[in-house]
Amino acid sequence: MSAAAAEHDRAECRGDDATHWPRVPVGLVTTLGVMAGGDNSIEVEGLVREFKKGPRAVDGIDLRVEPGEIYGFLGPNGAGKSTTVLMLTTLLPPTAGTARVAGFDVVKEGPSVRRTIGAALQEAALDPMLTGREHLRLQAALQGIARDERRAREQELLARVGLSEAADRKVKGYSGGMKRRLDLALALVHRPRVLFLDEPTTGLDPQSRSALWEEVGRLARDEGVTVFLTTQYLEEADVLADRVGIIHRGRIVAEGTPSALKADVGRSTVEAIPAEEDERARVAEILLRFGDPTQASPKGVAVQLANSNGSLADVVRALDEAKLAIANIQLHAPTLDDVFLAKTGTSLEGAAEDDEQDSDAE
Ligand SMILES: Nc1ncnc2c1ncn2[C@@H]1O[C@H](COP(=O)(O)OP(=O)(O)OP(=O)(O)O)[C@@H](O)[C@H]1O
Ligand SMILES: [Mg+2]
Repeated sequence: MSAAAAEHDRAECRGDDATHWPRVPVGLVTTLGVMAGGDNSIEVEGLVREFKKGPRAVDGIDLRVEPGEIYGFLGPNGAGKSTTVLMLTTLLPPTAGTARVAGFDVVKEGPSVRRTIGAALQEAALDPMLTGREHLRLQAALQGIARDERRAREQELLARVGLSEAADRKVKGYSGGMKRRLDLALALVHRPRVLFLDEPTTGLDPQSRSALWEEVGRLARDEGVTVFLTTQYLEEADVLADRVGIIHRGRIVAEGTPSALKADVGRSTVEAIPAEEDERARVAEILLRFGDPTQASPKGVAVQLANSNGSLADVVRALDEAKLAIANIQLHAPTLDDVFLAKTGTSLEGAAEDDEQDSDAE
């Protein structure tokens, strides 16, 4: 299957000078977003999915996504991300628990859920023999878009995902990234209020990735679309998501805004490498004024900064005043990987490898 979804972008999709997909003329952008009486939230309670001969892929998750929020579901391979998305998009029945999308129960009110949402799933099902434009035309017809609106909608979406020039080429000649972008456009055809994106940027080059971030941010910010997005990329969760849920082996192990999660797990560390080996003790003495000792590289000295104890600049100034020559000094700010490590005992990449080994052993 392929897509569905909405539109909206977001504040700090960084002003990088990445290539942007061509912008859509303002007049064509229709505001959908918070439609009359629409509750674009996602509410999940005790959701479980067991596979007969497989694991408990989703092991009792609770979450709530507010209307217009971008929720990043971050986890390694096999964590249960796609299984969750399949349940929330009504494509897979839960074993237990409940989920409501835009106020509709995913089990009892499947058709209403499907009318409201758009989804670009991990495996896009596109027909290699059709062109991009033909896919959009078909989707618009299937979604009941009025005939006289279809052409404008098609042009708008092709432009929005940067496929105007390739619109009349068959999909078999598209790159992986172009297929992902077409899938996103298909997800947006019927102006969904809630958008599910399962690893939307896997396989995209950095420019297409930032363009997609920008488009997703725009959909949320300008059009009030709620976005549930899965990813294995720390940076993606960090940059794009208002809130992040970290999923590991079917359970949510941490949830919050990226900055709160990082602040929770630890403070920044400063590591200095003295120019002269025998100055280590003196360097350590200065650094200890700023925080507690922590693990450093063999030649270095490191402390974990106490929040109130000044910045890297203060440390540099103090070392300078003591006339200590430093070969290298670095500030390590906590990342979402540190959060993952703190909660699971393994790094995000390590977790995927562990799980692969587990399944090899089975
Ligand atoms: N149809 C199925 N039958 C049996 N087991 C399944 C099925 N689908 C998924 N699983 C298992 O459920 C677990 C979660 O899979 P899921 O696809 O949800 O992970 P994911 O987080 O999306 O991973 P990835 O990042 O690789 O896409 C995995 O162990 C997987 O092997
Ligand atoms: Mg998946």
